[in-house]
Amino acid sequence: MWPINNGKERIHQSNKSKMLSQQEIKAIESWISRMWTYQFYKTSRQIASTASKTLKFKYKVIGNGLNRVVYDLNNGYILKIAISEVGLISNANESFIYNNCKKEVKKYLCPVKEYGTGWIIMKKADTKVSNLIKECTKLIKLELKFLRYGIIPIDLRLDNVGFTENNEMVVIDYGLFTMNLISPVLRWLVR
Ligand SMILES: Nc1ncnc2c1ncn2[C@@H]1O[C@H](COP(=O)(O)OP(=O)(O)O)[C@@H](O)[C@H]1O
Ligand SMILES: [Mg+2]
Repeated sequence: MWPINNGKERIHQSNKSKMLSQQEIKAIESWISRMWTYQFYKTSRQIASTASKTLKFKYKVIGNGLNRVVYDLNNGYILKIAISEVGLISNANESFIYNNCKKEVKKYLCPVKEYGTGWIIMKKADTKVSNLIKECTKLIKLELKFLRYGIIPIDLRLDNVGFTENNEMVVIDYGLFTMNLISPVLRWLVR
């Protein structure tokens, strides 16, 4: 259970999944419990590689950022696993924002399917950027849209967006977005 939304509401992380096997959930739990030991002497790329060696998943890694390693589940969905404390918060935050934001902005967020301790399953988006200028304009418009609907889109950039089948821009990494000023991310940064 992760206290979020300023304590008003708690999101339950049951760690049950319709897409992951019990064995896969156990592997994630084991990785999350060991993840802390690598934080101070390895780069995020090294930690991501240690994570995938530890997890031994049959899925292909399709990307990683500073905080999460991302697998393609080969069924139209992707699995993000935390490799840092911010990664844990980002997963919790994406689940919270997707499930609690206004409908006017929800369609611009890549849909979250399932969420548990340290992991999140999200729809797979096309991350190839075709016409850069056009996409930058879309990005700026999207930023204004989030601000208008009460979300501060921290870290919104081309690396963190993808495209739906209909070529609509959706945000794939909204782990640092915040819906209130006392967000879990800000709380963690000023702790
Ligand atoms: N929904 C998605 N569909 C396709 N690729 C994704 C998706 N989410 C993440 N990725 C890939 O994984 C990379 C890292 O994911 P991201 O959520 O940005 O993690 P981090 O929080 O570590 O930056 C992305 O840059 C992208 O290449
Ligand atoms: Mg990212």
